[in-house]
Amino acid sequence: MMKIAIGSDHVGIEMKPQIIEFLTELGHEVTDFGPDSSERTDYPIYGKKVAEEVAAGNFDKGILICGTGVGISISANKVKGIRAIVCSEPYSAKLSRMHNNTNILAFGSRVIGIELAKMIVTEWLTAEFEGGRHANRIKMISEIENN
Ligand code: RB5
Repeated sequence: MMKIAIGSDHVGIEMKPQIIEFLTELGHEVTDFGPDSSERTDYPIYGKKVAEEVAAGNFDKGILICGTGVGISISANKVKGIRAIVCSEPYSAKLSRMHNNTNILAFGSRVIGIELAKMIVTEWLTAEFEGGRHANRIKMISEIENN
């Protein structure tokens, strides 16, 4: 069971309840950081919010959805300590956990369907960081962030 923070924009909001339901059925505790209506909004607001919650250690992981997953993942990656992946297939999702220790997953509701999204989420949540040689590369990423 994990504590998962979720957010979207007005485009990603259609898919968000289905992902929340899926995560809840798997036994995870999910907190939705908005938005809660389909009124036009700006993805950096929610990318930042979820990223700050994850970076602060209030949640184990974060999931973000916008039209492509691109804008919201770029926003999340600006928060120190965040390694967000935007992806539309399960292989990269899984490897991003094993090699890159990603702590946020983003995808696009205009790019993939709900069943593929669920498969990506499952692979991402179940894969473990391998550490070892990969840990030093994560340290190198942190050094870039700290300079
Ligand atoms: C909103 O029109 C759209 O730009 C947004 O959902 C996302 O795709 C940005 O990366």
